[in-house]
Amino acid sequence: MERRSIGAGALSVGAVGLGCMPMSWAYTPSRRRGHESLAAVHAALDLGSNLLDTADVYGPFTNELLLGRVLRERRSDAFVSAKVGLRAGDQHVVADGRPGYLRRACDASLRRLRTDVIDLYQLHRVDPEVPVEETWGAMAELVGAGKVRALGFCALGAAAGPGAGRRGDRGYRTTLRHLERLQQVFPVSAVQAELSVWSPEAASQLLPWCAARGVGFLAAMPLGSGFLTGTLTPGEGFEPQDVRARHPRFTAEAMASNQVLVAGLRRVARRHGPEVTVAQVALAWVLAQGPQVVPVPGADRAHWAVENAGAARLRLTAADLAEIADLPVDVGAWD
Ligand SMILES: NC(=O)c1ccc[n+]([C@@H]2O[C@H](COP(=O)([O-])OP(=O)(O)OC[C@H]3O[C@@H](n4cnc5c(N)ncnc54)[C@H](OP(=O)(O)O)[C@@H]3O)[C@@H](O)[C@H]2O)c1
Repeated sequence: MERRSIGAGALSVGAVGLGCMPMSWAYTPSRRRGHESLAAVHAALDLGSNLLDTADVYGPFTNELLLGRVLRERRSDAFVSAKVGLRAGDQHVVADGRPGYLRRACDASLRRLRTDVIDLYQLHRVDPEVPVEETWGAMAELVGAGKVRALGFCALGAAAGPGAGRRGDRGYRTTLRHLERLQQVFPVSAVQAELSVWSPEAASQLLPWCAARGVGFLAAMPLGSGFLTGTLTPGEGFEPQDVRARHPRFTAEAMASNQVLVAGLRRVARRHGPEVTVAQVALAWVLAQGPQVVPVPGADRAHWAVENAGAARLRLTAADLAEIADLPVDVGAWD
């Protein structure tokens, strides 16, 4: 698989990573199968799709425990991309950026992951109660202690700033201010934010900042939480614990309207051959946004991990990209 660089530290990873969140968090709990998840991780590693994106809060903790079962045997095949700074409460998650908490959380993650070093340690959310420099300084000390190789910053949710990811003009301004402050303390090696055909804002609002500084970019939700694969049926419904049950993009009406996006991606796929899938076109679009972009599609089935890794071989033409750019704006984004 093509390799891409993450950050000034020039850490090299497979161009398509594996998002491990759906194995333990956020989507369809009844369909999770531990053995299937393990098979997905092994399949991804076999194909060089080696960046495994996880977080202590996924589960909580069970996602890291799951990965630990693979890493104890295959640590050298994997690039561990973990996150800290979000704690699971009873019904919700809370940001915690206190240095003492981060130090304890890192040691606990290392134990669960069964490794002595995390390749990329990302701040999951900014804690509004703690100056971000203090949080980042504590994370930098973990690099000094050899527990972490490089640091990343997640720009999702409230920490990304008001309007982030929306099509308005406020965009990722708060994120960019945070990134500038972090750079004064310790280099940012990667930024993680939502980037997909239906959430393209980060390409114009965050990628130029990353490109100018040699900072890597991890594209979260590159498959539109599964919608941009063409496998979800409008009206099928979601389990109550599935985050999509409450997302306006996933009402039956929005999903029916948004089929126009899937149809557009399918047209492009057909031009590239009968084996090419809608999901692969969606990922190839993300890959085409810049040489430092690494999509981390979430999958907990081996055949999907294999299909997604195959997107690294697909090269979209300028005409394909123009056609995708002309697709209508979706219904139901948070705006
Ligand atoms: N930093 C953050 O705050 C943050 C926030 C959100 C996500 N993320 C990261 O980004 C990763 C990706 O985001 P995501 O998982 O939310 O959304 P996504 O990658 O856009 O979509 C994942 C969904 O697509 C399905 N899927 C995957 N490949 C498929 C294929 N080839 N054909 C059909 N369906 C397919 C998966 O189904 P199955 O589950 O059934 O396999 C899953 O439901 C996460 O895993 C996580 O690592 C980070």
